[in-house]
Amino acid sequence: MDIVIARAIHVLALVHWIGGVFMVTVVLLPAMHRLATPERRIAVFETIEGRFSAQAKVSVTLAGLSGLYLTERLNAWDRFLYPEYFWMHAMVLVWLLFTIVLFVAEPLFLHAWFLREAKKRPEVVFARIQRAHTILLTVSLLTIAFASLYSNGFYL
Ligand code: HEM
Repeated sequence: MDIVIARAIHVLALVHWIGGVFMVTVVLLPAMHRLATPERRIAVFETIEGRFSAQAKVSVTLAGLSGLYLTERLNAWDRFLYPEYFWMHAMVLVWLLFTIVLFVAEPLFLHAWFLREAKKRPEVVFARIQRAHTILLTVSLLTIAFASLYSNGFYL
């Protein structure tokens, strides 16, 4: 029963986290071009993405904790030794990437870099942010696809 609940927490946390990244990548960032001044763009982006990033800290933490719990309860640590379980490695990699960005890079230097550079050259900065989000979203979606396929019995 606890495994079923941990699985539900894992999936709900992912829906919030990756769904939010999806929205920022395909709705918020492309819409930035329509805002006239760099100041306006920065203010809108900061308000929406800042709010999401605070919430994402909770969902990323929940996804990681439930993932670790599932690995322990399914006795699945040895999967990390086998290449056919590449989707387990992918899950940990995606989780690590976002954890580093949200908990280390953003508070330490990323946020300050954004505020400084977005005033000077907004086009370049928003293009870079768009590219980074597109890459992270693609990797996350592929991971979700492979993890749900392979953990539910898919074999090639
Ligand atoms: C520390 C990080 C993580 C760990 C240790 C972890 C571990 C696990 C484990 C053990 C399972 C159950 C596998 C099975 O039933 O055989 C699972 C399921 C799953 N995980 Fe993760 N996970 C982590 C992060 C992520 C991330 C970042 C994603 C997506 C980007 C993800 C997507 C999924 C999906 C889609 C499932 C299948 C759910 C289902 O169909 O019931 N996981 N995870």
